[in-house]
Amino acid sequence: MSDKVRDQYEAYPYPPRDPADEARRLIVGSPSSLLEINHYLFAGRRNFAQPFRALVAGGGTGDATIMLAQQLADAGGAGEVVYLDLSATSRGIAEARAEVRGLTNIRFVSGSLLELEKLGLGSFDYIDCCGVLHHLAEPEAGLAMLTDALAEDGGMGLMVYGSYGRSGVYLLQAVLRALIGERPLAEKVSFTRRLLTNLPPTNLFARNPVLRDHTGSDAELVDLLLHSQDRAYTVEEIAALLRGAGLNLISFIEPLRYEPATYLKDPVLLRQLGGVTPEDRAALAEKLAGNMKTHVFYVSKKPAADTLAWPDGPAAIPCLRVLDGAKLAKAVQRDLVLKGEFDGLPLKFPLPRLASAVLPWIDGRTSLGEIQSALQNLDPRQDWDHFKAQFDQLYQVLGGLNHLLIRYPV
Ligand SMILES: C[S@@+](CC[C@H](N)C(=O)[O-])C[C@H]1O[C@@H](n2cnc3c(N)ncnc32)[C@H](O)[C@@H]1O
Repeated sequence: MSDKVRDQYEAYPYPPRDPADEARRLIVGSPSSLLEINHYLFAGRRNFAQPFRALVAGGGTGDATIMLAQQLADAGGAGEVVYLDLSATSRGIAEARAEVRGLTNIRFVSGSLLELEKLGLGSFDYIDCCGVLHHLAEPEAGLAMLTDALAEDGGMGLMVYGSYGRSGVYLLQAVLRALIGERPLAEKVSFTRRLLTNLPPTNLFARNPVLRDHTGSDAELVDLLLHSQDRAYTVEEIAALLRGAGLNLISFIEPLRYEPATYLKDPVLLRQLGGVTPEDRAALAEKLAGNMKTHVFYVSKKPAADTLAWPDGPAAIPCLRVLDGAKLAKAVQRDLVLKGEFDGLPLKFPLPRLASAVLPWIDGRTSLGEIQSALQNLDPRQDWDHFKAQFDQLYQVLGGLNHLLIRYPV
């Protein structure tokens, strides 16, 4: 473990968070919401009221820890979250956030994920490791350590930097090293702010519209441009990293981002995609889009066929992760088009005819069978086959955008 990395996160805990904000909002995101964990890693069939052990490796100021612990507490209280980080300052902020929420299902541990075995924390059903592996001298060793701590039927949610979306970052880091050399971090920060206002407009970093994280705070600036150790990954490099660890890629988030047909509309070009493997499709999408500054993905020791939930029958319960079904139905009812944006790239997704009738029923409790019979009561033509064909089209879009997830009764 590098002392420089530890010193950086002691001085600039990341991301910057004020514990008092817990009184007014819960930060939710990907990976690690319980709905996602269930959908991508447990075929939608995990009962979170039963014991469930999660590790947040490199927990930082606590975003994933707090979200997971709150959702597990809401689900019935049997789950435990272990927070692990080598920065005491970050841990203090995460602990204060947990206290504001009154969460008692978190165990805070100080240490390195590279020493997991020695720490004797046991095995985990789920591991979150976001924005950490790419800061290790040997990410492969870190991932191997996490894989050893993962239960055989468990899974992980990971995030690493994306190479093409970070275009300009490593050139600017090199400029900074050459210009300002070694000096205290606080001085480096003010030099960096000077440099940022002096960049020629042709500079690759200045021209990269997706990199704006540094504008918010010094901690974000340090993380982006002054890190003593970071690297980025392409889709192919992620695939190689996972193969080396004996892990299977379950899904990138959002799945449609990693689908070249999201970006190509010309039918002649689209035909060329026939027979291209999912991994190659994802690699192609990354190169086409050019705007993926991070890669978020779920992995498992099991193949995706065993872990990914699918809306394959009337018992499936569709759940909207953050959207409200009734509001969404209203927003799309006129032209049946869902407008979205992937990091500065506006996109339009056509929805099926039945979308605005189905969406208000999606409340995370009502099954597909129940929705279908309610709709058939209003219109006898909505038999299961007709309904399911329409739902599948809706699912292709909303599932592909990671908005619509599936669970089964447990
Ligand atoms: C960029 S922050 C990400 C924090 C958090 N995962 C998130 O996404 O909000 C990286 C965190 O990883 C921690 N870290 C770096 N190397 C580590 C190691 N070997 N073991 C445990 N934590 C580590 C740092 O202290 C820092 O808090």
